[in-house]
Amino acid sequence: MNSSVLIFDSGVGGLSILTEVRQRLPHLSLHYLMDNEAFPYGLKPDDELIPRVLKVCTLAVKALQPDLLIIACNTASTLTLPQLREQLSIPVVGVVPAIKVAAAQAAETTGTPDSWRPGGHIGLLATPATINRTYTDNLIRDFAGHCTVRRFGSTELVQWAEDWINEQRTPYGLFEHLNSWLQHPVPLSHVVLGCTHFPLLKAQLQQQWPAITWVDSGNAIARRVADLLPQTVSSTTLATAINPARNGDLQCFWTDSHKEPTGAIRYLSTLGPVSRCAVLPEK
Ligand code: DGL
Repeated sequence: MNSSVLIFDSGVGGLSILTEVRQRLPHLSLHYLMDNEAFPYGLKPDDELIPRVLKVCTLAVKALQPDLLIIACNTASTLTLPQLREQLSIPVVGVVPAIKVAAAQAAETTGTPDSWRPGGHIGLLATPATINRTYTDNLIRDFAGHCTVRRFGSTELVQWAEDWINEQRTPYGLFEHLNSWLQHPVPLSHVVLGCTHFPLLKAQLQQQWPAITWVDSGNAIARRVADLLPQTVSSTTLATAINPARNGDLQCFWTDSHKEPTGAIRYLSTLGPVSRCAVLPEK
């Protein structure tokens, strides 16, 4: 049987991670879980979010028995990873802002003269919660000391990504929302998409600001999953390449019994047949 991976987010954002995992490891069965009852996470206080994420994830792991859990949410990962790893007996992969990658790329493109902050100017675009986390401060201190890092917390962008996936509504207002931050006082060369919702709008961001390199964590996460579930890669990737019918199945779960996430289900079905859709009881 194919190994299965549970991919968790508050809303549609984790689909950006799921897409990368599906591309690299099509044989894996992927269970997508969105905690849409508690969406958005980016405005929730830590003392509310920690027990919520722990509860939903532990119950889901018990119910679905995946081989690995991806917390496809920067807001949740930067807060709950140690506790989740302590409570669960399967590997837990977290998604955190790709500051290390962006800082290294920015240093390469700007060169490294001996002047102050030789690594250039990079941006971190994330939820209001993520930009203020100690975890984020530490990432910047450890990996981007040579850069100037500007931060921007946006809930609007999270909602625009939801509207894009759910209603295919184009995000009007992107330019007014971000341009001043992106350009002043010095134009940013690289911007970390530190919320999994934002890569879903990457095409629009690239089109509006083609000179900026938009950096996300999706690819690195898919590689990490391949490292952690190696036996499944070697035994089935070839078979899958020859016969796509061997692709792992896709399933969709959510927490709000009043809100079926039709947009997420439609998105998943573009990647393959969705074999099960259900509310996940959390009590
Ligand atoms: N997608 C989530 C993240 O990566 C959070 C979105 C939200 O619920 O605010 O941070």
